[in-house]
Amino acid sequence: MDAEHANAPRGPVAVPLGATVTSAAASQLGAVRATGGRVTGEPRRETPRDPGGVRATGAPREGGLLDRFGRVATDLRVSVIDKCNLRCTYCMPADGMPWLPQSQLMSADEIRRIVRVAVRSLGAEELRLTGGEPLVRKDLEHIIAGIRADNPDLPISMTTNAVGLDLRAQALKDAGLTRLNVSLDTLHPETFAELTRRPHLDKVLAGLRAARAAGLGPIKINAVLLRGINDTEVVPLVDWAVSNGFEMRFIEDMPLDGDRSWSATNVIPARDIRAAIEEAFTLSPDPRGRGAAPAERWEVRRTGETALAGHVGIISSVTEPFCAACSRTRVTADGRIRSCLFSHEETDLLTALRDGADDEGLAQIWRDAMWAKPRAHGSDRVGLARADFVQPERTMSAIGG
Ligand code: GTP
Ligand code: 5AD
Ligand code: SF4
Repeated sequence: MDAEHANAPRGPVAVPLGATVTSAAASQLGAVRATGGRVTGEPRRETPRDPGGVRATGAPREGGLLDRFGRVATDLRVSVIDKCNLRCTYCMPADGMPWLPQSQLMSADEIRRIVRVAVRSLGAEELRLTGGEPLVRKDLEHIIAGIRADNPDLPISMTTNAVGLDLRAQALKDAGLTRLNVSLDTLHPETFAELTRRPHLDKVLAGLRAARAAGLGPIKINAVLLRGINDTEVVPLVDWAVSNGFEMRFIEDMPLDGDRSWSATNVIPARDIRAAIEEAFTLSPDPRGRGAAPAERWEVRRTGETALAGHVGIISSVTEPFCAACSRTRVTADGRIRSCLFSHEETDLLTALRDGADDEGLAQIWRDAMWAKPRAHGSDRVGLARADFVQPERTMSAIGG
């Protein structure tokens, strides 16, 4: 076991809502393909019905979303649309992005059904709505209200660029949205326009003000650091965020861009981000720990002061990967399960739903798909900067982050 997997759960793994499987037995089963839902590019096949508590492939037939490495996915991320109103260089090409046709997008009712299955049959504990940009969907309030009606206690968060949020924050809160993460990489209008290829910094700031006024907190700010573009803004961003009551998070650039021009040498590593913050602040580990979260959290104090100024998070997918504790399962806007952000395979849940599958049928397709979740970074080997890493076909904008 390498350092990356030293923290992986060992021994018997409790599967929420049912079966128990040992992770040792699970990992011995090797790199099996999920059965059940259609895997992209493959002919459709029926879900085999085998007796016993564990499927022929090894996937459990009841309970939650266990994988071969003993991880259990309880964190559901649903992309509601692939379109976006910005064109961030680390995410999308300037133009030429093919959009999903309307008929392939999940409807509000289909999203509601999929979330209900995840929560009631598979033990999902929290939901994050993503895009593209979720605010591009005109029926977003309706989507959230439907999910909220089914799941009164479910934490529902959204990751957004906040363009247009000023006009919708209160309605989203009223519909049942719990909280927000906002992508904002720079406080300079020119850098914003260069990085996102759109001149909308003012709209983002207006959206943030409206979100705070509507009580959509705590609000976290996501900044992807890019060498020579915004890497000099670490201290100003922390200063601005903590002064406004936001949690600032810095993200290592990942190879999910539309231009396919990512390079490991351009990544600002987490250790350099910490050092940059420490030029003006003191960092101490957040005593609440990290759990399965992508972000390592730190308490921030202004240098020489004892009062807590706020928190920062650092998301170090490249230099300090966190796949061993991953608890995430994703559904794309066209209803495909992605077991890992970097997966090369997807499992079509939406076609099964449209073909009339019942809740248990959908849940089993999902269990099978997650059982085959790769160990790390879309493969059974960890590392985004490895020579043999292959970038997935979908860009970040079409996955949702
Ligand atoms: P909170 O629960 O609010 O802390 O949110 P989050 O950090 O889980 O979600 P958010 O959508 O804000 O994601 C922040 C960054 O983390 C984005 O760049 C995501 O792509 C990245 N991220 C989220 N999940 C994963 C993951 O499973 N693997 C990797 N490598 N990065 C992830
Ligand atoms: N690397 C890291 N993070 C990215 N995001 C988008 N593209 C990338 C990338 N290539 C982040 C955005 C947003 C979240 C959904 O994903 O900044 O906060
Ligand atoms: Fe930028 Fe997010 Fe849109 Fe990608 S999805 S282009 S990161 S705002």
